[in-house]
Amino acid sequence: NTSSTSQSTQAQCPFSGAGSNAPAGYPVSPRAAQFDPFEDAYQQDPPEYVKWSREEEPVFFSPKLGYWVVTRYEDIKQIFRDNITFSPSIALEKITPTGPEANAVLESYNYGMSRTLVNEDEPAHMPRRRLLMEPFTVDALKHHEPMVRQLTRQYVDQFVNDGKADLVEQMLWEVPLTVALHFLGVPEEDMDTLRKYSIAHTVNTWGRPKPEEQVAVAHAVGNFWQLAGQILEKMRKNPEQPGWMQYGIRMQQTNPEVVTDSYLHSMMMAGIVAAHETTANASANAIKLLLSHPHVWQEICEDPSLIPNAVEECLRHNGSVAAWRRLATRDVQIGGVDIAAGSKLLIVSSSANHDERHFADADLLDIRRENASDQLTFGYGSHQCMGKNLARMEMQIFLEELTLRLPHLRLSEQTFTYVPNTSFRGPEHLWVHWDPSENPERHNPAILGKQHPVRLGEPSTHSLSRQVVVQETEMLTDDIMRIRLAAADGQTLPRWTPGSHIDLVCGDLGISRQYSLCGDPTNPQVLEIAVLREDAGRGGSAWVHQHIRSGLPLHIRGPRNHFHFDEQTKKAILIAGGIGITPISAMARAARARGMDYQIHYCGRSRKSMALLASLQEHGDRLHVYPADEGRRADFASLLAAPDADTQIYACGPQRLTDCLQKICESWPDDALHIEHFHSTLGKLDPGKEHAFEAELKQTGMTVTVAADQTLLEALRAANIDIQSDCEEGLCGSCEVSVLAGQPDHRDVVLTRSERIAGNKMMSCCSRAIDQRIVLDL
Ligand code: HEM
Repeated sequence: NTSSTSQSTQAQCPFSGAGSNAPAGYPVSPRAAQFDPFEDAYQQDPPEYVKWSREEEPVFFSPKLGYWVVTRYEDIKQIFRDNITFSPSIALEKITPTGPEANAVLESYNYGMSRTLVNEDEPAHMPRRRLLMEPFTVDALKHHEPMVRQLTRQYVDQFVNDGKADLVEQMLWEVPLTVALHFLGVPEEDMDTLRKYSIAHTVNTWGRPKPEEQVAVAHAVGNFWQLAGQILEKMRKNPEQPGWMQYGIRMQQTNPEVVTDSYLHSMMMAGIVAAHETTANASANAIKLLLSHPHVWQEICEDPSLIPNAVEECLRHNGSVAAWRRLATRDVQIGGVDIAAGSKLLIVSSSANHDERHFADADLLDIRRENASDQLTFGYGSHQCMGKNLARMEMQIFLEELTLRLPHLRLSEQTFTYVPNTSFRGPEHLWVHWDPSENPERHNPAILGKQHPVRLGEPSTHSLSRQVVVQETEMLTDDIMRIRLAAADGQTLPRWTPGSHIDLVCGDLGISRQYSLCGDPTNPQVLEIAVLREDAGRGGSAWVHQHIRSGLPLHIRGPRNHFHFDEQTKKAILIAGGIGITPISAMARAARARGMDYQIHYCGRSRKSMALLASLQEHGDRLHVYPADEGRRADFASLLAAPDADTQIYACGPQRLTDCLQKICESWPDDALHIEHFHSTLGKLDPGKEHAFEAELKQTGMTVTVAADQTLLEALRAANIDIQSDCEEGLCGSCEVSVLAGQPDHRDVVLTRSERIAGNKMMSCCSRAIDQRIVLDL
């Protein structure tokens, strides 16, 4: 309510409506009273600036802004989820209200910027979003990759021999703008003029032009508005041309009430900003962050397959949208605080991204973080950024080009400045330097031909690899080799829990094999596995036995745990067959350390063939050994005859053994028996035996067709829906989605019997619909 705001408050306050008093009776704490996102401390590091709030007062009223400020992950996600209670209509409200003179100028140009998508309410928003989504899907975006690569190369060519550059000025500002113009379908001849005006539009919406600048800005914005209209008319004459705007024009022909004239004209302007500044800033933030962690920079230089994950982690750690806005449409509670209808909310998504409740060691830059893609920099739910995969593509290509051509890039000494505003955040300049005589292409021009495929969609933890070196090997039996691995760079290795495994990449064979960790989880210097030579196997173990020797560098993925050991359980029965002893031995050690009541039952052909027997002696009479050649056989039917609610059973071994245990345990509570599954064909499809079905996505408002030769996960990704995944074989549970209606055809080994019967969740990597349709909470 600007009319009640005094002139002097307006000059200081960025939002219309700012300066309003705290809601009646609401106590404002001293820190809440001081909160001011235009202070340099917020600009430099928003999550750090509101750390006190995350810890002590996660929802507070800021009298300086007249906004409620929300800083915790779960609260913010909840707000994003519900776009009816929390309307996005104020998302693009002008930050600095313009004075009457500038307003008159805008009027003289018939300036009519209106709602687009990001600030449109339902029911208008969703049908429009659905209709306009196709050009953002993974398949459609692939066509833009050569253009982004070519532009990036041209820009780097211009400074690669200079030894220093301001990356923002010389590359990161212009490339995303040009990509945005191409994506929108702006004709080449209009690009330069549009480029000039678009910057004025940004200042008009997000900036704080001084009163004397406002009129000039208003003229530029007015011109931009008119030019956007003219370009649109040009596009209408040739709607078959490629481009998102032309696509919108084609959609308007059949759906004029959904894709309105006002939308098209406004989007012509707003689309440039949405696609340009966000990506330019995100790229500058990412490069700054990586260069200030030189060992991480070096890692991605050495292994560019880490780049997609590095991009995601940078978007989490230091994204370009620091906060977003919503309007409460009814009285509601957030984090236990009453918020009245009509309240404005500043949701500090960058703070959510540093919330320890969701991200372990949240301030750490960890490019192998498994849940980095839970970041909220792209928003979430029905308005989640449609251009996220175009942005990811650009950022991956920038990093690939710079790590390839300038791996010796260093961050120069400088003070970083930011344009003061709440939301869009990136350094105005990013100075870097290097020694051009060391440019790899001078010595080996062939490197310029190297290219890594861009990974569209959310990165898969599946693709994360880590370099290790073999520290030591030892034959434990005639055919079981113990291998100790250390980090290649001498750094520490990740923590792991009993039941975890690693994927070992078998040289150039193009295959990887999973091996359980069997050493000491608390030793961060070494990972230990034991590998049985299986000549009848698929080649992995033979490769290990032939090639692995101390000093050999290797790639691994993980550690990951699909076989969790509940350290709170009162009693544990641990059962191993043959090489299945590896995870069981780690569990036994944990059980002992916790003072748990446990037994180990270990079956094998002969003592000679059974690994780790000597070290297992530490478990005394808790260890029961059954070597077949001594005629000792385990009697699991008797051992497990009486179900016990306080006991958990963990088993790893040949399928015969685990099948038999599954039968015996049918009368046990359904989550009592835990089995380690290594080889799985659950994710494999036989299209001849499958039927296509439709998945209705309730939150997104879309319906996705899952073809007979496609998994639900693939179909969702193709439709631009981010889904976490890991094993993609129905083993790990990371791709779980909630089912609201329809019957899932479960194919995984994660869900328990009662969860399957309940039918309210399913694993999207392998499970399907029994009928033609399923409704998901996505
Ligand atoms: C919406 C961030 C790049 C197009 C959004 C939203 C955010 C965002 C925070 C609002 C989300 C919500 O309300 O839940 C970003 C960031 C980017 C980026 C951080 C770069 C790193 C792009 C690009 C494009 C684009 C490259 C276009 C080519 C859109 C559109 C929407 C949107 C059309 C509106 C979606 C809707 O309301 O349904 N973006 N964006 N964005 N973004 Fe992006």
